[in-house]
Amino acid sequence: MSERTLAIIKPDAVKKQAIGDIIARYEKAGLKPVALRMMQFSKSTAQGFYAVHKARPFFDSLCTFMVSGPVVVLVLQGDNAIKKNRELMGATDPAKAEPGTIRKAHGTNIEFNAVHGSDSPETAKFEIAYFFPEMDLVG
Ligand code: CMP
Repeated sequence: MSERTLAIIKPDAVKKQAIGDIIARYEKAGLKPVALRMMQFSKSTAQGFYAVHKARPFFDSLCTFMVSGPVVVLVLQGDNAIKKNRELMGATDPAKAEPGTIRKAHGTNIEFNAVHGSDSPETAKFEIAYFFPEMDLVG
């Protein structure tokens, strides 16, 4: 079933000049970008995006990281896009990520982990709408 997911190439991966490599991995896996935006998060953009993690001990540090430099936000479309992107990314902690995954290649630790991907259809819907009006999706 074709579906959409939201991906973020985080500040650590942008600084490492890994944007091209990461987008190539999406495309090779059949995940087609249907919206793409490079942006600098404000603190409130980061806090709103990660609101589900508000009570977590790492929340402030995560938001500080996410405003530390530009990010690339994408909507990816394809069969089982949510699950496929999570497989491509690998485990949240790059040390536990499978060889060949994005986080294994570009992540540093559980916080500086190179990419974000929606984890369910409900979060994908919220996260896509957080950055893109429906009319900006080209797929
Ligand atoms: P992401 O997939 O963007 O979702 C939430 C983010 O919080 C996660 O990637 C990590 O960047 C960060 N994160 C998750 N768990 C921890 C943790 N235990 N310590 C620090 N950061 C974390």
